[in-house]
Amino acid sequence: MDILGIDIGGSGIKGAPVNLERGELTQPRHRIVTPEPATPDAVADVIGALAHHFDWRGPIGCTFPAVVQRGIVWSAANVDKSWIGVDGQVLFHRTTGCPLVLLNDADAAGLAEMEFGAGQGQSGVVMMLTFGTGIGSALFINGQLVPNTELGHLEVRGKDAETRAAARVRDEKGLDWKQWSKRINEYLGMIEKLFSPDLIIFGGGVSKEHGKFFQYLESRAPVVPAVLFNEAGIVGAALAARSLASEQAVALHQ
Ligand code: BGC
Repeated sequence: MDILGIDIGGSGIKGAPVNLERGELTQPRHRIVTPEPATPDAVADVIGALAHHFDWRGPIGCTFPAVVQRGIVWSAANVDKSWIGVDGQVLFHRTTGCPLVLLNDADAAGLAEMEFGAGQGQSGVVMMLTFGTGIGSALFINGQLVPNTELGHLEVRGKDAETRAAARVRDEKGLDWKQWSKRINEYLGMIEKLFSPDLIIFGGGVSKEHGKFFQYLESRAPVVPAVLFNEAGIVGAALAARSLASEQAVALHQ
């Protein structure tokens, strides 16, 4: 069964149909530049255009880089502040005409890694962390997601952790891999102190380059790179919408 997965990022909004048995994209990914400012209506138009591009009529899963509870966006660390309190799920349903589930981007990436990637078959406490514009987190206990953990906003050295250790900070401050890893280690230390994970999955685009910095990472729990890289958000979004697909199937047979 295919579900359209959409991943909303700061620079691009990407989508592709996903085969849920294999966790693979069944058509080439389509990317549209994130509008500026990325207001709810402007983003909703892009989501509508993506659904139209694939001529999509079925369920859609969509990520959002903020707290999302029952479709409503409740934070805006790296997105337009006008999103707070908006029901993104209803808004995107209107521009796509399709049943749609909206969820946090790191939660989606974590779902994908647990099902098809580095977390497959892992029990206990698994912490997925994504390093990009911000730091996202997805906490799994025996495979069950605890949504919206927002651990990129833990305080390290009196600052929001993501403003010290996100991948963006490495670029902006021109830190070398070793300097950046030192910041990551402080952050991982905090995560370990509070959660004692059994496994840490290191995600975000930068995980592709793990060969350049994993040797500097220090933690009690094993740290493994994510394996789905840029596709994790799309695949995880589609996974999250799986229940919509079964509801539709039930409705068709009634
Ligand atoms: C947001 C999270 C998001 C993460 C990664 C953080 O700034 O608060 O909701 O998961 O960035 O995009």
